[in-house]
Amino acid sequence: MADTTVSTADFAFIANLVRDRCALVLEPGKEYLVKARLLPLAQRHGLAGIEPLIDRLRGSDNGLATEVVEAMVTTETSFFRDIHPFEILKKTVLPKLIESRRTVRQLNIWFAASSSGQEPYSVALILKEWFPELNSWRLNLSATDISHEMLNRSRAGRYSQVEVNRGLPTPLLLKWFRQEGAFWQLDERIRSMVTFSPLNLAQPWPAMPLWDLVFLRNVMIYFDQDVKKTILGRVGRVLGKDGYLLLGGAETTLSLDDSFYRVEALRAGFYQLKP
Ligand SMILES: C[S@@+](CC[C@H](N)C(=O)[O-])C[C@H]1O[C@@H](n2cnc3c(N)ncnc32)[C@H](O)[C@@H]1O
Repeated sequence: MADTTVSTADFAFIANLVRDRCALVLEPGKEYLVKARLLPLAQRHGLAGIEPLIDRLRGSDNGLATEVVEAMVTTETSFFRDIHPFEILKKTVLPKLIESRRTVRQLNIWFAASSSGQEPYSVALILKEWFPELNSWRLNLSATDISHEMLNRSRAGRYSQVEVNRGLPTPLLLKWFRQEGAFWQLDERIRSMVTFSPLNLAQPWPAMPLWDLVFLRNVMIYFDQDVKKTILGRVGRVLGKDGYLLLGGAETTLSLDDSFYRVEALRAGFYQLKP
């Protein structure tokens, strides 16, 4: 029978590990989360509970530490999540960007914590469906996440019935997905528009192009103030001067980084750099 308790010392060990590795803050009181996320992992490794899992981690099992971090991050996402920003994107932000990029005919879009891929694929679907003129442009849709499991799922582009039921309009489902048993397979023409690669936002970033649009949604909520400030500072350096940063509904740059302002007219969490 598995030991399902999480001692204070074990909780502190896991909280330190995830803070060091991915900046995720686990406040005391979240022992239930550690239990829910790590017991299945312990069982997969044939261990009798959280304590033996942590014993193995103390023996510096780096691969296992990575698995623990990936199990602890929240990967909740959906197609066209919170719909309003996607409407604004379609009506205002993309038309503006397309107008100002007409000579270079290139758009660079970064999805900085893309989970299982629904967010970048929602944008790829918008570009394909509503902006056919972009077919002859160079589109760089780059999606990154810390979780290798999520990146692999994203690349596969296979979604369950429950996942496609959450936010994906039926006409888009029927046009761009093929049903394969219990799953829906996204068409290669959309999949190939997005590249997926690992990136830990809390560690130094590789060289990047200047982005026209950065999606940084529903990930900063898990970080402390200093990490948020560092990340926003870096975003400020890789965002084009008339580019847009899109944050999640519960996120803001306010009192973190005053180089951004919220584009109030858009009312959907879009930010730009102050001139
Ligand atoms: C709640 S999901 C948000 C997904 C999507 N942006 C959305 O809004 O639907 C948060 C994602 O952030 C990723 N994440 C957590 N910490 C990270 C870090 N330090 N660097 C990069 N990605 C991270 C998780 O793996 C997860 O896929």
